[in-house]
Formats: sequence, structure tokens, C-alpha cells
Amino acid sequence: TSKAIILIGGPSKGTRFRPLSLDIPKLLFPVAGKPMIYHHIEACSKVPSMKEILLIGFFKEEQLKDFIQQTSKQLNVPIRYINEEKVLGTAGGLYHFRDIILSSDNPESIFVLHSDVCCSFPLEELQQFHQKYKRHCTIMGTQVAKEYANQYGCLVRDENTAELLHFAEKPETFVSSLINCGVYCFSPSFFDVMGKTMVDLRASNVNINSDYPEITRNRNLETLRLEQDIFVPLAGTGTISVFPYQGFWRQIKNAGSSVYCQELYLNHYAKTKPEILKKGDNIIGNVIIDPSAEVDPTAIIGPDVYIGPNVKVGKGVRIIHSIVLDSTIIKDHACVIYSILGWSSEVGLWTRVEGIPNYTPFLYSQEKRKGITIFGSGAQANGEIIVRNCIVMPHKQLDRSYSNEIIL
Ligand code: GDD
Ligand code: GTP
Repeated sequence: TSKAIILIGGPSKGTRFRPLSLDIPKLLFPVAGKPMIYHHIEACSKVPSMKEILLIGFFKEEQLKDFIQQTSKQLNVPIRYINEEKVLGTAGGLYHFRDIILSSDNPESIFVLHSDVCCSFPLEELQQFHQKYKRHCTIMGTQVAKEYANQYGCLVRDENTAELLHFAEKPETFVSSLINCGVYCFSPSFFDVMGKTMVDLRASNVNINSDYPEITRNRNLETLRLEQDIFVPLAGTGTISVFPYQGFWRQIKNAGSSVYCQELYLNHYAKTKPEILKKGDNIIGNVIIDPSAEVDPTAIIGPDVYIGPNVKVGKGVRIIHSIVLDSTIIKDHACVIYSILGWSSEVGLWTRVEGIPNYTPFLYSQEKRKGITIFGSGAQANGEIIVRNCIVMPHKQLDRSYSNEIIL
């Protein structure tokens, strides 16, 4: 049997999702019409022997309760939230709750997924690969452009044996363009390996001659990091394999990146479950429209658009590469491109709301921001204005055109 753990972190990490995360925890933000981690849970639920999915993090349980209940029912898989009383790090929670993870059902495979990544989650392939190479842990790796590789965990892999030879977390200089996807498959034995590595870590913390200065320097040992504390020392010891994943992959770090991730998921779902996509003469490419939304037949929608429940879209509207959340109103002849319109926001007659696409990951810089235009919930743009490359805080009303601004 199998179990899955999704590392969901906590609210302190959601700052880059402002203004949208003010209304909803980042991991529930809709991407391709579903909460971000629904895609993870759905993939886990398809693994035939999946017994349970555990979400480990430090959110308030009430914020997740409804989502967990609904999703568990819908996908017919038990889902449980486990709260970290204090921040334990990417491996700390796993290790701390190992008895819960291993208790009942005797899982042979344990999948661990970061919540803030988007990919096709080929978990069965990963599991087969893991079983074939018989090591304690398998990391899913993917190739990224050389210039971005050092923003991630970089992997050096033995091409013949698939062994992880070297791991460097966000290295300063180029190490490898094969990077850590944040998707893993463990055997239960990996917890023993982690325990032993932790003991070594504690011992090496007082030893100035450590082989891994980056581990021991300024380390508070309350947290345990899967990357620096476990993978780095275990690389090259025959413990870890790397599964080379070929499909799409992208991080979801800020609100704008959900537009690009939505595009990737919609492409994927066009192949794997085309029935969820809207068809029609006024639809271009991959589009999801909630059945309760009212879209005028003269509006042209797509590609890569999600329109949420109770949204109203007027005559002659054009929407491209955007996310339109519940109960938003887009009035006649407005145009929305590369934008996210938060809950209950409004776009006036003939108004144009537009972002500047930036498909390269990692341009978080706030000065000279170039990216998706975002309306916080309840924000309103009056008629006949242009809002270009802006972030609009919730409930703000815009009565003139703006460009390249964060509107507070
Ligand atoms: N439960 C829990 N507790 N979860 C955590 C904690 C923690 O203390 N810290 C982080 N997480 C979760 C986050 O919510 C996220 O899903 C995941 O762990 C990774 O979080 P980050 O700490 O933000 O790391 P990163 O995304 O910059 O880098 C990691 O992911 C990359 C892939 O996206 C590293 O593992 C890289 O090596 C990797 O390439
Ligand atoms: P085309 O070459 O005509 O496709 O235009 P473009 O590539 O310069 O257009 P852009 O990417 O800005 O917009 C794509 C489509 O959105 C266009 O085909 C237009 O039909 C539509 N569009 C663009 N701006 C507006 C607008 O302000 N209002 C409305 N209603 N539609 C618009």
C-alpha cells in the first residue's frame, strides 16, 4: 500500500500571494478551476494502493476543513491534516510524525509532494522507478534552463545507476540543470536513514571540522531540512535515486504564476480529461467555465481561461489567459488579458485590464514589476479605462487609467 504526504507549510509563506491570499490560504488558490493542491490530491488518489493523504503544515485547521471534507468525498480517499505546532522544516514534520505516517496499512511507498509545484505528478511511474532501483528514496528531477537552475535544488545523477551523486540547494554557482521537483517516493526504511542522519547532524554541529559547513553554520536544530540536512550528506552514499521526469513542471510561488500553471494544467487536461473543458463557437483553446457563470454568447473566451461560479460576462467581452474568480462582473466590451480578477471584483464597460506576460520563472522583483495584473477581491475598475501591469488591493475603486503600479 501507499501513503502520500503534502508539505503545505503555513501562512507566513503566503506573502507573495498578496493581495489574493488575504482571502484564502495560498494552497487553496484556484489553478485551472481547482484549489492548487487538488491537483496533487487527485494524482495521489489515482495510485491504486493509496490508503491516505496527509497534509502537514502550520495552518489553522478551520481554514482547510471544508476543502478536506469535500475533496476527500469527491475523490474517495481519506485526507487528514496534521498540524506542526511549530515550524519543523521540510523534513522535520515528516520525521516527527513518522509513527502516524507508518501506523496502520503498513505503507510500502510514501510519496512526499511540495504543495507549491505544478506538474503531471506521474506517481506510479515514480514508484516503479523507485522499486526498480531499490534505494531508500527517489527524487523526481527535471531539466530547466541553465540560467535558472540555481534557484532550485540542483542534482547530479549517475546516468547508469540513477544514483544521486551530489545535491546542492540553490547553489551560488552552476552545478547542474537537473533540478529537484519537490516530488519524492520513500521506502519506510528512509525514516531510519533520516534518524541516523539527524544524529550525525547533531554530533557534527559541535564539530568545527564538519564536512558540510553549510549544514552546521547558524543552524537552529529545531528544524530539519530535507534538502541541506538529509539529501546533501546522503548524496553519493547509495541511498537516493533520481527519476528523470520529462513532462511539464513549474513552481507556484506568487499569485501571477498561477496563470502560467493554469495554462500547463489545461494543456494536460485537454489530453487526460477533455470533458472538463468548455466547447463552443465563442471559445478558443482550453477554457473552463463554471456552469453557474453567465457568459454572453458574443463574448470570446480563451485560450487558457478559467471563469468561476456566478461570474457575469457581458456582450463583446474578450478574455485571454486569465483567472476570473467567483461572482466577478465583467461588463460589455471589456477586455481582460493575462490577469487575475479576485472574488466579486468588477470591470466596467469598454475597460481593458491587461498584464504583461513573463513566462520566465523568477522575476519577483517588485520595482519594475512586469507581470500578471491582479485585482484583489471586491476591486472595481470603472468604464473606459486601461489598467495595465498593476496589482490592485482589495475593494479599491479605480476611476482612471493606471499602468505599472501597485495600487494600495
Ligand atoms: N510542513 C511544512 N513545514 N512544510 C514546509 C515547511 C515546514 O517547515 N517549510 C516549507 N514547507 C513546504 C512548503 O509549503 C512547500 O510546499 C515546500 O515545503 C518547499 O518549500 P520552500 O521551503 O519554499 O522551498 P523552495 O520551494 O524554495 O525549494 C524547495 O522546492 C524546490 C522545488 O519547488 C527545495 O526542495 C528545492 O530543492 C526544490 O528544487
Ligand atoms: P490581433 O492581431 O487583432 O489578434 O490583435 P493583437 O494580437 O494586437 O491583440 P491582443 O493580444 O492585444 O488581443 C487579442 C484579441 O483580443 C484581439 O484579437 C482582439 O479581438 C481582442 N481585444 C484586444 N483588445 C481589446 C479590447 O480593448 N476590447 C475588446 N473587446 N477586445 C479586445
